[in-house]
Amino acid sequence: MEKNFKRNLVTCALPYANGPVHIGHLAGVYVPADTYVRYLRLRGEDVLFICGSDEHGVPITIKARQNGCTPQDIVDQYHTLIKDSFSGLGINFDIYSRTSSAVHHKNAAAFFRKLYDEGKFITKESEQYYDPEAKQFLADRYIVGTCPKCGSEGAYGDQCEKCGSTLSPEELINPKSKLSGAEPIKKKTTHWYLPLDQYEKWLSEWILEGHKEWRPNVYGQVKSWIDGGLQPRAVSRDLDWGVPVPVEGADGKVLYVWFDAPIGYISNTQELLPQSWEKWWKSADTRIVHFIGKDNIVFHCIVFPAMLKAYGEGYILPDNVPANEFLNLEGDKISTSRNWAVWAHEYLRDFPGKQDVIRYVLTANAPETKDNDFSWKDFQTRNNSELVGIFGNFVNRAVVLTHKYFEGKVPAAGTLLDIDREALAEIPALRKSLEENLTNFKFREALKDAMSIARVGNKYISDTEPWKVAKTDMARTATILNVSLQICADLAIAFEPFTPFAAERLRTMLCVGLNAGTDHRKGEQETVNTYKEGEGAAIHTGIAPQGLTLNWEQLGATEILPAGHQIGEAQLLFAKIEDDAIQAQLDRLEAIRAEKEAAAKAEAAKQVAPQKAECTFEEFEKMDIRTATVLAAERVPKTDKLLKLSIDTGIDQRTIVSGIAEYYSPEEMVGKQICILANLKPRVIRGIESRGMILMAKQSDGLMRFVTPQEAVTNGAVVG
Ligand code: 2FM
Ligand code: ZN
Repeated sequence: MEKNFKRNLVTCALPYANGPVHIGHLAGVYVPADTYVRYLRLRGEDVLFICGSDEHGVPITIKARQNGCTPQDIVDQYHTLIKDSFSGLGINFDIYSRTSSAVHHKNAAAFFRKLYDEGKFITKESEQYYDPEAKQFLADRYIVGTCPKCGSEGAYGDQCEKCGSTLSPEELINPKSKLSGAEPIKKKTTHWYLPLDQYEKWLSEWILEGHKEWRPNVYGQVKSWIDGGLQPRAVSRDLDWGVPVPVEGADGKVLYVWFDAPIGYISNTQELLPQSWEKWWKSADTRIVHFIGKDNIVFHCIVFPAMLKAYGEGYILPDNVPANEFLNLEGDKISTSRNWAVWAHEYLRDFPGKQDVIRYVLTANAPETKDNDFSWKDFQTRNNSELVGIFGNFVNRAVVLTHKYFEGKVPAAGTLLDIDREALAEIPALRKSLEENLTNFKFREALKDAMSIARVGNKYISDTEPWKVAKTDMARTATILNVSLQICADLAIAFEPFTPFAAERLRTMLCVGLNAGTDHRKGEQETVNTYKEGEGAAIHTGIAPQGLTLNWEQLGATEILPAGHQIGEAQLLFAKIEDDAIQAQLDRLEAIRAEKEAAAKAEAAKQVAPQKAECTFEEFEKMDIRTATVLAAERVPKTDKLLKLSIDTGIDQRTIVSGIAEYYSPEEMVGKQICILANLKPRVIRGIESRGMILMAKQSDGLMRFVTPQEAVTNGAVVG
């Protein structure tokens, strides 16, 4: 933050309201954004934190069709679920609105209309895929096919979820309509396009030259788009769900979801602050930061800025766009359709009171520079060893001992020894590192710094052993506990951005409030310090009975808590997570994995081997196929697959070695009437002469069943 900004506008990608949010969303966008906002507020910065649901787009209409309801039903359901999940996790936006709101529809339409009137769009007639059965154009996800990049099936008309490539419907191999399964035809349609090519030079100067400090993944993606040459991009679609194109004769056309969604950030600001919204979007002293996932980079760094540039009227551009990579779950890509995810609302149900744990673990494993993995074992270990074992353990010892020896009053420190000075001296250095890391969106590193403060405290109290010193030297015990309590107060500050619920509990234990800047949640009526402690991880000033409130500036100060300050009772900061809670989660995932494997197997079984090359009747006639009965069977020693069968062929009694042991036990085979190829040239298998072959029906997944006459017939009957 070299420039002097007066206010910070922080936005989070508007989640699509067609499903719940999962840990991938949380780790990629919402937890880091909330951490950042809490940090800025703690520093006394003026922050506006904006989000809301993205309620348009094809997937919502597809889901509605699948569920036999309207798109509005779908977005109503998920808007509430998502909103509640965020607030349950302490992610407190100043506003969480929706792009189906009247304000937004009006805004987005007006935005389009101005660009249209000023001739900022080009129109193009093109041939697009059309479903002749459903009588509908097939926008984006209404069309599926084989990905031209990675060859996987089920790629969408706008993106392959397997390899992440951005696609256009024309690129798909074997395109099919998602509506009817029909092969689509091409039909002419006209759309409006934003000529991104006209903004290429400007974008290049602004980002490639002006923002070299952006994360390498963001900068790199922008560079490769620009280097590849920007093309005009369609901003309308033939669909019946979305913001209608506000132009005469545009019936059946709506704004492309990625045209209207980012305008949603502006609409939501306007909805919250109808009088003063412009200062957040049009003042050079406002700093905009967009938190997004990597699949949103092009829209936030290229398309939306070009839209704003085309619009003019003083709109400012983002100062940074910290996009994260993706989070995997137990080594596999998170998948909504497969239910391979940890859903935020289910987490809150299964782990009540443990909002901080998931925030902590998702930050510790944040996919900041590369894709990363979440595992339940790691979740448990981080909670039990780090949050409980270090942070919670230290605070508990300091608070309990203060009550035991000093009636809960902060004892005055005497002369400090080296060990005291050394412990305290570590905090300012860690604070500096924390600040640098938080400012530069390095939340993983920042969390390590915060945890290092807890480690310093835990080591200090273990090394100084006040419970032993108290037997002989109360003055020294007082000093140790004074130092320990100051470190507890440091922790209450340093962890506020990361684990706000625990920070609030810690403040309650220490009987201090929090001074964390402005609150815009009540819009223009009230903008300061209205929030009460206890309302789910307070983000603003809380009740401070003794007039003591914490803010970032006190972190590392020598006397945050004055001698004589009364502290509250010890309470549990974090609780251990037992194996059974983890096992329940692992079992759920295992069941999903098993289900997927079974489905894949069933799918494979359905595949039929292609027909072989033609043969003549004479060729067929050469094969002597007969009915026969198995008289005896045994496993061929040291093999898994082979059975040695003694067969009555009606012609003779002979031995056939067959690779069916995986599917039949010797006992099962005895007495069975089967069919054999009798005149196959004898072969020696594992030292046994095999004379003939048992006819088996073989599925493509490998499953085999012997062929048997429908009713018993004489052995040696000719099959043909
Ligand atoms: O990727 C997504 O989930 C989009 N709904 C994000 C939209 S962000 C913004 F532009 F609204
Ligand atoms: Zn692909």
